[in-house]
Amino acid sequence: MLVASLVVFLSCAGPASTQNLSRPEALLKKMTLDEKLGQLVQRAGGRSKALNSRLDDAELDRVRAGQVGSYLHVAGAEPLGKLQKTAVEESRLGIPLLFAMDVVHGYRTIFPVPVALAATWAPESQERAARVAADEATSAGLHWTFAPMIDIARDPRWGRIVEGAGEDPFLGARMAVAQVNGYQGGNSLRPGSLMATAKHFGAYGAATGGRDYNSADISERTLQEVYLPPFYAAARAGAGSFMAAFNDIGGVPTTSNKELLRGLLRERWGWQGLMVSDWGAIGELINHGVAADRAAAAILALDASVDMDMVGGVFAEDLKDAVAKDPARLKQLDEAVLRILRVKEQLGLFDKPMQYHDTERESRELLSREHRDAARVIARQSMVLLRNEGKLLPLNPDKLRSIAVIGALATDGLSALGSWRAQGKADEVVTMLAGITAAAPKTLKVLSAPGADPRSTDLAGIPAAVKLAKSADVTVLVIGEDFDLSGEARSRSDLELPASQLELARRVLAAGKPVVVVLANGRPLAMPWLAENAPVILETWMLGVEGGNALADVLFGKYSPAGRLPAAFPRTTGAVPFNYSANATGRPADPDLKKDTVRYHDLPITPQFAFGHGLSYTEFRYSELSQSTQTLGPGERIDISITVENTGAVASDEVVQLYVRDPVASIARPVLELRGFKRIELAGGARKRVTFSLTPDQFAFWSPRGQWLIEAGRIDFWIGASSADLRANGAFEITKTHMGTVPAAALPTRVIVGNL
Ligand code: NOJ
Repeated sequence: MLVASLVVFLSCAGPASTQNLSRPEALLKKMTLDEKLGQLVQRAGGRSKALNSRLDDAELDRVRAGQVGSYLHVAGAEPLGKLQKTAVEESRLGIPLLFAMDVVHGYRTIFPVPVALAATWAPESQERAARVAADEATSAGLHWTFAPMIDIARDPRWGRIVEGAGEDPFLGARMAVAQVNGYQGGNSLRPGSLMATAKHFGAYGAATGGRDYNSADISERTLQEVYLPPFYAAARAGAGSFMAAFNDIGGVPTTSNKELLRGLLRERWGWQGLMVSDWGAIGELINHGVAADRAAAAILALDASVDMDMVGGVFAEDLKDAVAKDPARLKQLDEAVLRILRVKEQLGLFDKPMQYHDTERESRELLSREHRDAARVIARQSMVLLRNEGKLLPLNPDKLRSIAVIGALATDGLSALGSWRAQGKADEVVTMLAGITAAAPKTLKVLSAPGADPRSTDLAGIPAAVKLAKSADVTVLVIGEDFDLSGEARSRSDLELPASQLELARRVLAAGKPVVVVLANGRPLAMPWLAENAPVILETWMLGVEGGNALADVLFGKYSPAGRLPAAFPRTTGAVPFNYSANATGRPADPDLKKDTVRYHDLPITPQFAFGHGLSYTEFRYSELSQSTQTLGPGERIDISITVENTGAVASDEVVQLYVRDPVASIARPVLELRGFKRIELAGGARKRVTFSLTPDQFAFWSPRGQWLIEAGRIDFWIGASSADLRANGAFEITKTHMGTVPAAALPTRVIVGNL
C-alpha cells in the first residue's frame, strides 16, 4: 500500500455564485449532455505547418453550437480573438475556448532545445526561457502549452530525449518545477498565465529499446524512484494540466490507467488539474488491444479520469450512450467538465476573455531585443565543452589570420531551431557562420564550406572543405544531426554520427591543422572514432535563434563554457542504456577484466563522457569539506559545505554536484544518486563556500512493500565536478528507520552560496 500524501496542491474554488455554487458548478447545472461532451473536445485548428488553416465557417458553427472546448495548433492574437468572441458571444452558455500549442523551448524567440537547457544545470535559466516563451505565447492568443516534457530518458536511441532534461530524476524534477513556474508565472494558475502541461505521464521515456511509443516494462521501484519524481514535483508546483503518455506500462496503456491517473495522481498526490490525452490516444486503446471499439475506449479513458480528448473525437462521438445510461459515468463526465471549466476560470477567461488578444502587445513581445538577449545568454550556458586538449580553445581572434567554418549545419537555421519550433523562423536565426563572421575582427578572414550535409550521403563537397581547412589557421568543424533526426517518432538504432558527417570529420581532421569540432545534435551520440581522434569537442545541441552569436562568444573566449551533460555519452550504441545511477550488483565491474563481472569485454567500463561532465576555460579546486552533524534523525537537517576556488585567471561558472549512496540497505541501492547541484559564478582567483542542506526524506527508497522507506544506517556522500570527477567525500548516519511520504528525488535540496 502507498502511504498517502493528502496535500491538495491546487485550489479549485472559483468565486461563489448563487446557492454557494462556484461558477463552473453553476454552469454545469445548465449544460445539456451535448454541451458537456463538447467541453471535452480538443480540435486541431490547423495542420502544424498551416496554423489556423481549419478555422473555416463550419468550425465557427461548431463553436456556436458548443461542440468544442479547446483548439490546438492555432496561434495569433487576432484570429484567435475572433474565435473566442464567437464562443463567448454566440454560443448558448458563452463558455470560452482554450487555445493550445506545443510551445516547448520558445514561441517566436527560440531558445536551445530542452536537453540543452537542462545542460545549463541552471533551473533559473530554464525558468527564464519558459517565462519569455509564455510572455510571447500569451500575447499571441494562447492559454496553454504542452510543455514541459519531463520524461526521464535513459536510452538515447529514443528521439524524444531532445525534449526533456535527460537521465536523472533529481535534475529532471528541478527543471520541471522551473518550467512550470516559468510558464505559469508562479506556483498556481492565474489570469494571463500560460497553463503548463506535465507530460507524458508516467513512463513514456522508458519505451523499450528507445523505440518511440513502445511499451515500458519496468519495476514498480524504477517507476516510483526514476520516472515519477519530476511529475510529482510538477504537480506540487501547480502544473494546471497533465498529459497521459501514449505508451503502456507493463501492459496497461496510460490513457486507461485508472490506478496511475485517478489513483496515484489525483487521489494520493491530490492533484486536481486537467488531464488531456495525447493525440488520438483514446482511439488507440483499440490498437493496444484493451478496447473492442471506440465506445469502450471512451469509457476506459473517462474512468481513468482523462478529461480532454486531443483530436480523436472519441469522447464527442462515442461516449454519449454510455453516459446517458449510467449515472456513475455521468458523474465522471461532470467531474471532467468541471475540471476543464475550472482551469478556464483560473486563467481568467470568463471574466476577461479578450485578455490574450491584444495585438499591440503581441507585436511588442515577439522576438523583442530583450528576448533575443535572453536567448543568447542561455545558449552560452547550454554548451558543454567535452574535451579541450592542448587548450586550443578559446581562440584568440586577434592572433588568427583565417578561420574555416566547415559543415552544412553551420548555416542551417532550421536545424538550429530544433524539432518544436513553434513560430520560430529559420531566417531569423543567427547561424553559426553568421555569428562567427559578426564577431571576427577585420583582420580575421572567415572562410566557409558546407562539406557534407547530415541529410545526405553526397560526399562531393568534402575535397573543397579539406582544401579550405588546409589553407586556414584553424577550422571550426560543425557536424552532427539535423533537426529531423531527433524528436517524436525519430528514434535511431545507431547513435553514431550520420555517415557523411563522420567522413567529413575523418578527412578534415586528417588535414593536420588545428580543428575545433562543434557538435550540433539532439541526443547523446556514440562516436568512438571522433572521441579517439578529435582533440577539441564542443557540444552545442541545437541552440536556437541566437545560437551563432552564443557560439562565437564561447569560441573567442568572451564566455567560458560551463554546461554539463544531463545524460551520459556512451562509447558505442551497444552500450546503451548506460546510467551512472545503476544499482550495485554482486559483481561490480572489474576494470582489468581479471574477474567475471558486470561489463562488456570489448569496452571500458566507463561511458565516453559521463553524466555531469563538462569543462571550462579555467580550473577549480575543491577543499575544506565540512558537515554540520554526524547523525540525522527524523525532522533534522544536515548541512554539507565545501569551498570552491577558481584557480585560474579566467572568470567562469562551475557546477558543483552532490552525490549520495546508501551503502547497506535492505535492497540494492544505486551506486550514486545526484541529490544537489549549484551553478556558481567565480571570477579568476575567487572562492565561494557552497552548502547543501538535506533532510532524511531525500534518502527514502521505494521498498518492496510499496512504501517510501528511510532506513537507519550510513549514507556516503561525494562532492565533485561530475559523476566521474568526485573531489571530496564524507558520511553520516541516519539514526532511525521511518517511513517517507513522497518521491525522494522530487524534493529540492536547499543550497546556500557564500562569498569568501
Ligand atoms: C503528440 C506528442 O506526443 C505530444 O507531445 C504533443 O503535445 C502532441 N502531439 C500535440 O502536438
